[in-house]
Amino acid sequence: MMIVYDSNLQQFSLQVGKASYVMALHKGSYLTTRYFGLRLHGDFLASPFVEVPRSFSPNPLADDERFSLDTLPQEYPVFGNSDFRLPALEVEFEDGSRLVDLHYDQHRIYEGKPKLHELPSTYVEEEKQAQTLEIDLFDAVSQLRVTLRYTVFAGHSILVRSVLLHHEGDAPIRISRVMSMAMDLSLPDYQMLHLPGAHAREREMTWQPIGKAMHSIESRRGASSHQQNPFLALASPTITEEDGEVYSVALAYSGNFQLVVDTDQYDVTRVMVGINPFDFRYLLSPGEKFETPEVTVGFHAHGLGEMSRDYHRFFRKHLLSGRYRDQLRPILINNWEATYFQFDEQVLLQLADEAKEVGIELFVLDDGWFGQRDDDRTSLGDWVVDTRKLPHGLGAFGEQIRQKNMRFGLWFEPEMISPDSALYRTHPDWCLFVPGRNQSVSRHQYVLDFSSKEVCDAIIEQLTKILSQAPIDYVKWDMNRHLTEVGSVSLAANRQKEVSHRYMLGVYRVMDTLTKRFPSILFESCSGGGGRFDPGLLAYMPQVWTSDNTDAIARLSIQFGTSLIYPAIAMGSHVSAVPNHQVGRVTSLQTRGYVAMMGNLGYELDLRRLGEEDRVTIRQQIAFYQQWRDVICFGDLYRLKHPSKQQDAAFLYVSEKRDRAIVTYIQIMARANPALKRLRLQGLATNETYSVTLHGTEQTGIFALSPLTLVMNGDELMQYGLAIPYLHGDFLGCVWTIEKAEIAP
Ligand code: GLA
Repeated sequence: MMIVYDSNLQQFSLQVGKASYVMALHKGSYLTTRYFGLRLHGDFLASPFVEVPRSFSPNPLADDERFSLDTLPQEYPVFGNSDFRLPALEVEFEDGSRLVDLHYDQHRIYEGKPKLHELPSTYVEEEKQAQTLEIDLFDAVSQLRVTLRYTVFAGHSILVRSVLLHHEGDAPIRISRVMSMAMDLSLPDYQMLHLPGAHAREREMTWQPIGKAMHSIESRRGASSHQQNPFLALASPTITEEDGEVYSVALAYSGNFQLVVDTDQYDVTRVMVGINPFDFRYLLSPGEKFETPEVTVGFHAHGLGEMSRDYHRFFRKHLLSGRYRDQLRPILINNWEATYFQFDEQVLLQLADEAKEVGIELFVLDDGWFGQRDDDRTSLGDWVVDTRKLPHGLGAFGEQIRQKNMRFGLWFEPEMISPDSALYRTHPDWCLFVPGRNQSVSRHQYVLDFSSKEVCDAIIEQLTKILSQAPIDYVKWDMNRHLTEVGSVSLAANRQKEVSHRYMLGVYRVMDTLTKRFPSILFESCSGGGGRFDPGLLAYMPQVWTSDNTDAIARLSIQFGTSLIYPAIAMGSHVSAVPNHQVGRVTSLQTRGYVAMMGNLGYELDLRRLGEEDRVTIRQQIAFYQQWRDVICFGDLYRLKHPSKQQDAAFLYVSEKRDRAIVTYIQIMARANPALKRLRLQGLATNETYSVTLHGTEQTGIFALSPLTLVMNGDELMQYGLAIPYLHGDFLGCVWTIEKAEIAP
């Protein structure tokens, strides 16, 4: 049993992989966090919770001055009755009062895991893969039932939490804060790791001390955003990739979110995660339910590396969905950086021919194929092929690509509308706006009102038409601005603060419908690159365009940050032209290839302009990636050297069977007369013999190592390490492939 309850001790114990999560009922009815950490083999705690009287911490029970909610570590704290810390739930009743008093009512433990109704969920394929605990807390006065859900999954040190409110009273309630989880932990001197960024500079690993202040990592942009990611970790002071304790949370939600880390006067840290209460208020009528998004909560004792590998496996098995979940993804060419809006059928077919010739498997037609879209000022919403560019229509064009024995993919931006579009002229009230107020544009576009069922249904119908008429194997779903003037004419005045959340529910419904209706299409999500790289969207679309920044060196830190929890198979990474369009840097084609091979390899450059030497290199890259992509996409990642110091970076993928591995080393800035360095590998079998081959030195080093292939033991590779060749120049790299050696008997 992974979840057990002891009625004498009134403790719940969850075995979360190599961790234990223990909760207890205090005074028989207050649900407290007692322990979350390395696995306890005894399941329960013998130690009682120590209470002492504290001044200025009020006492709900007049005869017990030691008891205050202000000092109690809680699982779902509320507001107004003695706890002054930030609550997980805030509501308002018709009489203006805001108090709820949550007491344990009942609980259920069962096999499997329920799916959420309108929100992305993790899932199991067989009930025995998980166990769920539901604890009902109840407020007797308002008859509000709060169900806390905890699911633990076999083999993962990650649990999933969410909350279900059920209004059993008889007058409406306004919810202004309903977090997906809370827990109160003692985390002395821990540091916080999160992933702030910007467009083309996403997910920069950033550390800061927790200290004695409240931290709020949040988005108020209507999307999870480039600016913050709905993930954070709290790690012990000495954390490294291989050592140290780390707690992690990641919210499966793509809209406004908030992650709170708040340390109180007695050094207890409250961690809360959920929909951002900012601009949120939800009217719950009698009998109605409200479901929060799911949050993953992890504990790992062996560093960031162990955390990442567990998340990668967990997301690949319990979050990504559809038939592509377990399939290697096609190597693609995307025409965006090759042509931008300037293309016609002939240009595209030439590009496709070149792509086919080097071995590319999927041709993606990006922005500009519809309406009259010669730049970004027009036509979003008019999803009708532009016959000036594709005179024979989309179907005929797709067929031509397929005849070349390549798959065909198409770009859409379904949530957007250009003021200059037939759709806007017909339905000006289909976007988010507030009557009588100015309407901001961003990239010359408005946002469609996806909180409206009518709008969502119309988009489903439009996309269904195109996806059924043309031979489409892949869709890139983009979203190129954030939400402003958040108002919907489809909702009543007292529901306007529901718009941002209902927008996300609309997006999820449209995505759910289309991905189920077209199961053979591979969907890749995008939002100006990686502006919605979150677990919520991953539940529908199993890969994401990681960043609009395609520079190999900038990509190192973006991809390292992304890899903290997101698996390689979800990361789109392309080789583009030099000088790079975003930063102007020139790197070798070889280095660009090595970095793009950290995830799903693609190309995004005008192959027609390349010389024969570059074509040969690309052909070799593709053949190489085809041989190794299963190790990259389904293997275990080890981040060996972090690019943050701007000197070098190295990463290693090891196959599940530990019989194959690939190591990439990138030198960022060269130094004169450098020290000779070695890379100590990880994750291999100690007593196995491997054949190790070094690639890439022909282009990179004057002092290449020889021989290029060696037979080495796993322990030598992990303890002594691989000698890094002496690379002469900035931005150079090399790769080692490692295979279990066939030793003659
Ligand atoms: C966004 C995407 C790009 C490209 C353009 C097209 O910026 O991230 O990859 O598709 O839109 O307009």
